[in-house]
Amino acid sequence: MNVTRAVIRSTGHYLPARVVPNAEFAKTLDTSDDWIVSRSGIERRHFAADDEFTSDLAIKAARAALDNAGLDPADIDAVIVATSTPDFTFPAVATQVQAGLGMRKGFAFDIQAVCAGFVFALANATGLIMAGQAKRILVIGAETFSRIMDWTDRGTCVLFGDGAGAVILEAQSGTGANTDRGVLASDLNSDGQYRDLLYVDGGVSRTGTSGVLRMQGREVFRHAVEKLAATANTALDKAGLQAADVDWVVPHQANLRIIQGTAQKLGLSMDKVVVTVQDHGNTSAASIPLALSVANAEGRFKPGDLIVTEAIGGGLSWGAVIVRW
Ligand code: UT7
Repeated sequence: MNVTRAVIRSTGHYLPARVVPNAEFAKTLDTSDDWIVSRSGIERRHFAADDEFTSDLAIKAARAALDNAGLDPADIDAVIVATSTPDFTFPAVATQVQAGLGMRKGFAFDIQAVCAGFVFALANATGLIMAGQAKRILVIGAETFSRIMDWTDRGTCVLFGDGAGAVILEAQSGTGANTDRGVLASDLNSDGQYRDLLYVDGGVSRTGTSGVLRMQGREVFRHAVEKLAATANTALDKAGLQAADVDWVVPHQANLRIIQGTAQKLGLSMDKVVVTVQDHGNTSAASIPLALSVANAEGRFKPGDLIVTEAIGGGLSWGAVIVRW
């Protein structure tokens, strides 16, 4: 059977120049490099310059993905940006990316599912490709979480960073078997009753401000370990595969202990897990495409490798996408 598959043709990423080590926080807060490393695995993160915005990061990641594919902006039919830190309330960051790249056709929109945003964007972009709505989609995760930190809250401000990652998803024909290249299955979930565990305390309609991030870290941690392995297994099951078939896990990079706990629940050793949290911190929707792009640039993936991406974040929203490289 001939089917259309959404294949990752290339990746790209961009990190702002300013690198902030843990020691910086110890100057103003009752915290330490030891605490941050032992509780989260984070050693440093990048922060955008004052005149650098989410769209700038997204455009640079998109250009890198286009260069790596040898494609021009005119070859792209759609741009989807997963972000919770847009430049403006509207228009969408994706339309600014379109303009920044000089694209005059196609469509562009943002997806907001916080840290699960890239997984939601990848699954939705796959649906658009399989439905024949687009042949090539730039799927980007881009964030400037440094703009929504409460710098007096040591329980959150040491955890997040800024950055962007992009993939070009391309329609290619497949056989319908799970040996095909491309996105093989996905599993998406949200449960709005958990809003108070992780949210931003401002917004256009409620406060007219952008607000700052609030998190009950321990509770989010508990949900993460339980839900991430479950969604990965559900997505694998939908593809007719199991954890033993997995070559790589590219998880959301929030906390090394969550990443390790999830790998353990899946029965996978840490050599199969891409970990970038030490260098990037938690970049929310950007974390998975950043990790994918960094690992790809290092030549870690071989054609045919089975990759699981999984993420959880505010909402709560969580999910997994299974990709054959
Ligand atoms: O991307 C979206 C999803 N987000 C996540 O996945 C984050 C999930 N949560 C976590 O990663 C972890 O819960 C944290 C890293 C946020 C916290 O680690 P924890 O082991 O759960 O620590 P805790 O919140 O239970 O706090 C332990 C102690 C507390 O002190 P008391 O109450 O035991 O005296 C905190 O006040 O650590 C204290 N603490 C800190 N100490 C030094 C909290 N933040 C800090 C800090 N430095 N930065």
